[in-house]
Amino acid sequence: MTDTYTQLVSQGLGRDVAKRLGLPQPVVLRRHQPGAPLVTGPVLVSGDSAGANDLATTMLGWGLDVRRNALPKEKLGAIVLVLDTVQHPEDLSKPVLTAGASLRDLSPNGRVITISRTSQSARNPASAAARQGIDGLLRSLAKELRAGATANGILLDEHLDEHLATTSPSALGALRFFLSGRSAYVDGQFLTVRSTSGSLPIDADRPLAGKVAVVTGAARGIGAAIARTLHRDGAKVVAVDIPAAGDHLAAVANEVRGTALQLDISRDDAGHRIIEHAVERHGRLDIVVHNAGITRDRLLANMDEGRWQSVIAVNIAAQLRINEALLASEHFKDSPRIVSVASTTGIAGNRGQTNYGASKGGVIGMVRSTAALMEPFGGTINAVAPGFIETEMTAKMPFAIREAARRLNSLKQGGQPQDVAEAIAFLASDASGGISGEVLRVCGQQLVGA
Ligand code: NAI
Repeated sequence: MTDTYTQLVSQGLGRDVAKRLGLPQPVVLRRHQPGAPLVTGPVLVSGDSAGANDLATTMLGWGLDVRRNALPKEKLGAIVLVLDTVQHPEDLSKPVLTAGASLRDLSPNGRVITISRTSQSARNPASAAARQGIDGLLRSLAKELRAGATANGILLDEHLDEHLATTSPSALGALRFFLSGRSAYVDGQFLTVRSTSGSLPIDADRPLAGKVAVVTGAARGIGAAIARTLHRDGAKVVAVDIPAAGDHLAAVANEVRGTALQLDISRDDAGHRIIEHAVERHGRLDIVVHNAGITRDRLLANMDEGRWQSVIAVNIAAQLRINEALLASEHFKDSPRIVSVASTTGIAGNRGQTNYGASKGGVIGMVRSTAALMEPFGGTINAVAPGFIETEMTAKMPFAIREAARRLNSLKQGGQPQDVAEAIAFLASDASGGISGEVLRVCGQQLVGA
């Protein structure tokens, strides 16, 4: 549910009052519904490279209303700015300013998406400067957009695969994700495509059809939303949680017509139990979502060993052990996916959460290192890092702290569990086959911290 303040100020008198008083003006975000159009309104594909032309042609094939030049005063659903050939920072001015002139015509909940190449794969300093400049440009632009509009970028890493193009499968997969309501709470972020692997789904509404997915911590909160979203996208879901959460777990498993596995993930044999259950009950295992996590907050000066150890044990040591079992299993070799839930605390830090920060930073390190181990059999591993998400956990925060955390992002509101689940569903799909070792923040572009 959208918070009460957002509902109040997103229309009519409430909106006028908030505007006059200079209060935050969040809007109700456009979120994905099966059958919903990818984007509402025409899409301007800006840029004059061959990559821009190819992309415009592909998007026409998707049935989108594509423009190569803006029409005066026409409302746009999205602006896709293709900058794949810039060689020098001076090359940016013309395409960027041309796209900028159309920003006033961007609809509420519209999208700006850049497509460019990683600075790490540049051949000289000027090219690296131009490419890295897009990073600063995009993140600044995301802070200028209003009314639920977002800006995100796709980076092609030709370092590893020189054949990467604007129309490579995962570039298109990321583009569709960013255009759609699935990315409602992702803002000011980049996704790097590292290979030409992956494929777009035949049925865009059921991209996970035929897959078997395990979700840990699925009895409530974000985990329950992940189970529902993967089921909606066509997967058979195994919902995992501790025995004490058994009733809620059974309810979620029934709702998504999956199966429940009562299991403490910090047990030594957790990986084997997960594989055994998925294979015995559903015949295969394609996706594992490490969502289960706990907090035991204390300033480090007051931290006891129990609080520290339990957070490390559940949030990262369990994931490492389960991944070892998955990597060793013959049942996890058919282009499998691992998606792990980190946190912006693992990137920017948070007072009172040194143990949690260590565990979630650990998730990011684990994901980066494990990507190479998944590659030989077409597997990927990625993490999502949520910011402030409206759950039972955050509902318990003191009012003033909660309100500050909720508004201090570019979208001026907290995210929904579904927003995290949508990012995970994308990273679990075939469309993201060329994306691995990445951390995608789902934080509305948090304004505090990195
Ligand atoms: P939650 O506390 O509502 O749900 C966590 C679930 O994990 C519970 O059902 C719990 O029983 C289960 N779980 C805990 N220990 C387990 C174990 N040893 N074995 C099996 N299951 C276990 O938490 P929420 O808010 O849904 O968070 C889910 C994930 O998202 C966690 O990893 C959390 O750290 C992360 N996160 C949440 C944010 C938020 O704003 N709510 C922000 C950033 C990250």
